[in-house]
Amino acid sequence: MAKMWAGRTAGALSKEADDFNSSIQVDGRMYRQDITGSMEHATMLAACGIISKDESVAIIDGLQTILDDIERGKLAIDPEAEDIHMFVEAELTSRIGEVGKKLHTSRSRNDQVALDIRLYLRDEIKEIKKLVLDLISAICEQAESTQDAIMPGYTHLQRAQPITMAQHLLAYAMMLRRDFGRLEDVTKRMNYSPLGSCALAGTTYPIDRYAVARQLGFDGIAENSLDGVSDRDFCVELLSAISLIMMHLSRFSEEIILWSSWEFRFVELDDAYTTGSSIMPQKKNSDMAELVRGKTGRVYGDLMALLTMLKGLPLAYNKDMQEDKESVFDAVDTVKACLGIFAPMIRTMRPIRENMYAAAQKGFLNATDLADYLTKKGMPFRTAYKLVGALVTKCIASGKTLETLTLDEFKAESELFEADVYEAISLETCIAKRISAGSTGPQSIKEQICSVQEFLKNEKDFY
Ligand code: ARG
Repeated sequence: MAKMWAGRTAGALSKEADDFNSSIQVDGRMYRQDITGSMEHATMLAACGIISKDESVAIIDGLQTILDDIERGKLAIDPEAEDIHMFVEAELTSRIGEVGKKLHTSRSRNDQVALDIRLYLRDEIKEIKKLVLDLISAICEQAESTQDAIMPGYTHLQRAQPITMAQHLLAYAMMLRRDFGRLEDVTKRMNYSPLGSCALAGTTYPIDRYAVARQLGFDGIAENSLDGVSDRDFCVELLSAISLIMMHLSRFSEEIILWSSWEFRFVELDDAYTTGSSIMPQKKNSDMAELVRGKTGRVYGDLMALLTMLKGLPLAYNKDMQEDKESVFDAVDTVKACLGIFAPMIRTMRPIRENMYAAAQKGFLNATDLADYLTKKGMPFRTAYKLVGALVTKCIASGKTLETLTLDEFKAESELFEADVYEAISLETCIAKRISAGSTGPQSIKEQICSVQEFLKNEKDFY
């Protein structure tokens, strides 16, 4: 069949070229946004006297029946169509006749697709934001109940200082809170309507771009028509924001996988979020976390594909840009699926306090606090640091821990040691005495939980 765009050419593509050119399998999902945009465009055309009121009513009613039929499953999106824009327009003309052909007046698929993606992503970002909030809330719930669960804090994956599990979990809540902010930033910058940029240079018709932008909930219009149809920077920004979410989820996944291993046993995941092995009956694998970690690579790939696709393109539209949607949709779908599985996995995760505590007892996590003890009694910190280092070496040789040294053994190193040393280096004291803002100390943890809860409350419209 000859194409709607058959003008200079006969529009008769070879079957292979037709299939190769088609994007309907990917962009078909934007049918609602495409129809909504067209309805507002038709309304504006009538308001500006470019088509008659009756014509706009016929077009809008026709579009509404198409939307209803697609949503009710009465109209299937034709996989043979070139793209969603052509599909809707052809369907409209077949339903309402000649007047349907007026819809595309002073419009191009170039500004149409730029509009549709923005509308589509605006909705999707809202969904992602909801999921991020739900995960933050799941983390916050776990943090509330693990304020006194002592575990080793690590640097270089070597035991470093005691922390509480709440402190560890809240770190992720803070990261995700920034992720949420990044999604808001993306929305702000992309919320300008490209419609009316037309093919690239604007139009000779007296259109009202501002009215359409307002009706579609935009904050304004793209002020330059070439920019309006050419850039996909908002897609890149979104995929960057999503990549950061995935990076955070991936690090968290890695820890959950470690924590669930027999080597750690800090947490037990609920059976509902683990799998067994087809051969080893004893296995309980953290597949969900592993998949999230694995899918992170895919999303980074989507971001790279998009950046690379755009980098050499002269202004304005080039067909290369049709490739944008596959990457963007894949990243959006993936992050939604990952956030969706993560929140309940965290909610149902069972911390095993005794194992975390036992791990915190080994590894000289209180060495810094012992050095601080001496420093507070007048020894310069660097001297105290050296002295404790030597004590740790002795303990390793004799199989002891700092708190099992006798007072005489302590005193042999320095007269500053007194009986209160044991209290000063107990794990509980190490936590309780952390008084700096943002620390793992009890006051800081309470403040962090309050701050996160306050944030969730302020965003409750979403949540
Ligand atoms: N399917 C196309 C896309 O997604 C729509 C824009 C086509 N524009 C054109 N001049 N061929 O990019």
